[in-house]
Amino acid sequence: MKLESVLKRYKAYFIEKIEKYGADPKGVDYNGCEAQEIRFEQLVKVINPSAAFSIIDYGCGYGALFDFLQKKNWQFTYHGFDMIEKMVIAGKDAHKDFDSARFFHAESDLEVADYLVAGSIFNNKFEADNVEWQNLVSATLQRMNNLCSKGFAFNMLTKYSDEDRMSQRPDLFYGDPLFFFDFCKRNFSRNVALLHDYGQYDFTILVRKNIV
Ligand SMILES: C[S@@+](CC[C@H](N)C(=O)[O-])C[C@H]1O[C@@H](n2cnc3c(N)ncnc32)[C@H](O)[C@@H]1O
Repeated sequence: MKLESVLKRYKAYFIEKIEKYGADPKGVDYNGCEAQEIRFEQLVKVINPSAAFSIIDYGCGYGALFDFLQKKNWQFTYHGFDMIEKMVIAGKDAHKDFDSARFFHAESDLEVADYLVAGSIFNNKFEADNVEWQNLVSATLQRMNNLCSKGFAFNMLTKYSDEDRMSQRPDLFYGDPLFFFDFCKRNFSRNVALLHDYGQYDFTILVRKNIV
């Protein structure tokens, strides 16, 4: 199937979720708050919160990460970006009382931030084949790298879920953690962490740029 049609399906899938559930973890296809927060907790490990920072939430959905960061009492400005306009509208609406939360629908409107995180944006590949999807993910990582100065983090389902006998769905992408660790090491920074120890069928990669 052509990648263009896959992306069309991807968008239709998430538009249906946000229309049905609104600004709720189910609106971005999590089972609930806990599943979402477990992932956020791993992703934000890339941040050094001792000084104020700016952050891009790449594929932000309705901006749940903003609320998660707020609860930590960290000093930050948040730039949520999503390719689905309805997500951006839901994010703006849910955060209209916060000056430090901004939402974007066009990637070209984003300015470089200290950090970037991308939570669960690569999981649904629909009919795309694995190599095709892996290439798309890799190209997206290159763009993400260009959008931050201190580091970025992302997660995805793991191909090791197979070994735990979880049946793998053909419409989901189960990435190879070793491929992506190597890809990040070779292309982005010497300082890369692979987190695959938090009890889920996914992994998180942290790329830190500002360590000598
Ligand atoms: C599973 S939801 C996760 C939302 C949010 N990151 C969270 O964890 O709550 C995936 C979101 O990523 C967005 N997305 C996926 N790929 C994207 C891309 N290349 N650029 C912008 N948004 C993207 C989708 O539109 C969707 O809203």
